[in-house]
Amino acid sequence: MNDLQEYVKYLKAKGRLAEINARVSAELEVTAFTDAASRERKRDAKTLLFNKVEDYDIPVVTNLFGSRNTLSELFTNSYAIELLSELSSMMASGKGLSIVKAGKMLLDSKPKYIESGLDKYRKLDSLDELPILKSWPKDAGKFITLPLVITQSPRDKSYNTGIYRMQVFDNHTTGMHWQAQKGGAIHASEAHEKGERLNAAVSLGTDPYSMIAAITPLPHGINEFAFAGMLREKQTVMMKNGEYPAVPANSEIIINGHVDPDDRRLEGPFGDHTGYYGTAEEYPVFHIDSIYAKKNPIYPASVVGHPWHEDATVIEFLGDLLKPVIKSMNPAIVDIYAPAEGIFTNMCFVSIKKRFPGEAKKVMFSVLGMGQLSFLKIIVVFDDDIDIRDMSQVTWALATRIEPQRDVQIITGATADSLDHTTNIPAFGSKMLIDATKKTKEEGYTREWPDTISLPKELVDEVEKKWKLLGK
Ligand SMILES: Cc1cc2nc3c(=O)[nH]c(=O)nc-3n(C[C@H](O)[C@H](O)[C@H](O)COP(=O)(O)O)c2cc1C
Repeated sequence: MNDLQEYVKYLKAKGRLAEINARVSAELEVTAFTDAASRERKRDAKTLLFNKVEDYDIPVVTNLFGSRNTLSELFTNSYAIELLSELSSMMASGKGLSIVKAGKMLLDSKPKYIESGLDKYRKLDSLDELPILKSWPKDAGKFITLPLVITQSPRDKSYNTGIYRMQVFDNHTTGMHWQAQKGGAIHASEAHEKGERLNAAVSLGTDPYSMIAAITPLPHGINEFAFAGMLREKQTVMMKNGEYPAVPANSEIIINGHVDPDDRRLEGPFGDHTGYYGTAEEYPVFHIDSIYAKKNPIYPASVVGHPWHEDATVIEFLGDLLKPVIKSMNPAIVDIYAPAEGIFTNMCFVSIKKRFPGEAKKVMFSVLGMGQLSFLKIIVVFDDDIDIRDMSQVTWALATRIEPQRDVQIITGATADSLDHTTNIPAFGSKMLIDATKKTKEEGYTREWPDTISLPKELVDEVEKKWKLLGK
């Protein structure tokens, strides 16, 4: 799967592609189809290829990562996760022993840079030629929703890639919706400090490994394209791009442009994965200098909204993929799960094998200190007898193991997800930490914590056999 087109062929061969040959509008109609496909099959949604998008020559593909089966097939390489775990525990313990191993793994997957191949692309006049979607009725306009925004640190030239939506302001300018904590925003503020503009390149449509790596919440400083190389066990090939950051050599469409330090504009509203229209806020303006496209490109887009959509499948999958990294920092953790309906960043459940008094709190603070997990608003810690993926068990434990006055803590003046419309000030709010573990004497619980009710296992098994024999 060397590029997006090969990935689409792979999905077709697997029977996971629905091609729509009827004329479909980029305004709302692509969303309506994608929404229906996601609602119907949730984690097993089909990818949709719209071959005839009204007023455009370029087909649109959505739901590229709507199938958990596809993600599991693609990302079988535990090697990349092993590296991340090594790096994280190294950072936590300060031990240098693993550095040699980790360094070798990173070097092996360093992207390969080739000379520019832009001569093989055709130059487009403006954004008008791209079938950019308007997803929801009250969106402020059209948004590019699956761009790999590539920037380099003005300090050390290290690379960052993230997917940040881009609202089309006019033919040659868009918004750049990077949240302050994200890699692109960090590079922009480095440029800002120097009074410089920041060049950025946008790759639209590349191979699945690079796209997933761009979404993965990697520690800042780890090159996503190196990580993509580890995932696919083959280096990412990057094409030099003049004064702009290099881009994946297999990009369908490339947009080069820049962000000026003081140029910000109102961005949004946009129908987001919270299920609400995110409020309009000021974000940097991206000035487009040039646009290139393959001869017959496919334009990729993602539709998000009230769960369930493909972002839920991807984030759930990445959560499971990265669980060993989180566990390597917190050996007490048995499972960690952020349900899609909790909007991932808003609510997270953790189960632990508690070893000492207060360990639930230690785990909560540690989780809050890990990269993008700092956006979490509500964290609940359970004992490991609770299956935190089973909402019936979660509800039962919440109702029967919490004494609110003692077990619920509110941390004020904390960082918040900028998508959370409930905070008084954007991206600044509070946290609710709930300790739903059984309390021990050492934790000041002076009564006897009651046992949960159950029958002896042998008896249960025996009766189950008899029950079956009775034909019940
Ligand atoms: C479809 C989709 C849209 C996204 N839109 C945004 C966005 O507009 N702004 C943002 O900061 N993150 C957005 N994200 C999340 C980032 O891509 C993700 O946090 C990534 O890890 C950021 O990488 P970075 O830390 O290297 O910047 C989006 C993710 C997906 C899957």
